[in-house]
Amino acid sequence: MVKVNLSGCASFVKDADFKEYVQKALKAWDVLDAETGAGNDFLGWKSLPDGTPESLLCEFEAVRDSWKALGVNLVIVIGIGGSYLGARCALEALNHQFILPEGKPRVVFGGNNLSEEYLAEMMDLAERSNVACIVISKSGTTTEPAVAFRIVKEHIESRYGKEEAATRIVAITDAARGALKTLSTQEGYRSFIVPDNVGGRFSVLTPVGLLPICVAGYDVRAMLAGAAEAKKAVSVRNESNPAVQYAAMRNLIYAGLGKKVEILVTFNPRLTYLAEWWKQLFGESEGKDGKGIYPASATFTTDLHSLGQFIQDGDRTLFETVLKVEKPNRSVLIGSDPQNLDQLNYLAGQHVEHCNAMAALGTKLAHIDGGVPQLELSIEKIDERTLGELFYFFEAACGISAYQLGVNPFNQPGVEAYKKNMFALLRKPGYEAATEEILKRL
Ligand code: PA5
Repeated sequence: MVKVNLSGCASFVKDADFKEYVQKALKAWDVLDAETGAGNDFLGWKSLPDGTPESLLCEFEAVRDSWKALGVNLVIVIGIGGSYLGARCALEALNHQFILPEGKPRVVFGGNNLSEEYLAEMMDLAERSNVACIVISKSGTTTEPAVAFRIVKEHIESRYGKEEAATRIVAITDAARGALKTLSTQEGYRSFIVPDNVGGRFSVLTPVGLLPICVAGYDVRAMLAGAAEAKKAVSVRNESNPAVQYAAMRNLIYAGLGKKVEILVTFNPRLTYLAEWWKQLFGESEGKDGKGIYPASATFTTDLHSLGQFIQDGDRTLFETVLKVEKPNRSVLIGSDPQNLDQLNYLAGQHVEHCNAMAALGTKLAHIDGGVPQLELSIEKIDERTLGELFYFFEAACGISAYQLGVNPFNQPGVEAYKKNMFALLRKPGYEAATEEILKRL
């Protein structure tokens, strides 16, 4: 289970203050547990680890197997925000980092930006592949995935015909509302539901995350089992609860020390997208009403050579949460060289991961000396089970932390502002008044 180590905060906070914040976090835990807080109609994510029916997982496998039978070697997953980051994070963590999968389809992600070049190059890949598509939008009306899907749909239909296209496209959307729902019903696509009571950024353990992960060849049962373990660990009402500890310390550092930026640090590039998922989870859940810790991320040691100077020495508004992996899945030893021209023989016989661990420890000590408190979270290794643990752990910690901060963790009113301007500028029907208003400003 995710372990929390707060030793890197000891020189910054008083024990008594931490105890007080733990009590506050436990009150926030009560609100989440009793489901009495703001946004309590969006707590469906709490029952996903142990409430997902086996029949749904079998349906995912049926999609995977039917595409295998068609020879599909490329699955384009279309979605943005909570409708893509969870699956992307899992696949970046689990896939080989250099070799394309053999005997399994390659999964790529589209509709998460409006770059014409990105889309054109994705379609270059589609042209030379045997393609299927999973299109995901809870609202069914989001512009970025809708634009990408129109292009991918046209490609699939013109290559395979409309009838076969319906077997190569799966939609994941609301049960009743939205353009994607209407479209997928009309076109006869196989579809899965994003439950009404699960918000986008909490949806990784629904079909939104699980179908792409299953189609890519990974074990979603193990992921749900890991999430169930985390659920058990965060369901205890005392100070040993890891989600309570994490929420309490980050709120104390924010309110008590005035540190406003939390950097989620990993020392393993496989987890770079985990940090992207985490940024959305905490950023959209806490950043509102003029409050919130800004969620940033860094992959070390890479970013020690770019951001390291600022973290060590710049404006002292930062703290770090290091996500540590205890055991690497692979082993590479540094050899001995009789010439020793590179002067590395002092490392001969060591694992590369030993150097990584020493870099992590050296960084911890240096950053503490530089005024950067450091929280540490650790998992045993990277696999489906521990990713499931992390997903549920962070979701629970986020709910507790946001209630402790005094905001509704489950809405995102601020996301609409840019959309209104964009629709007005694109002359979307219904936005005429906004277009006039905006043109006056330009
Ligand atoms: O967390 C959220 O609710 C958002 O980030 C959404 O996931 C994102 O905007 C995509 O929305 P939709 O799935 O409706 O297309």
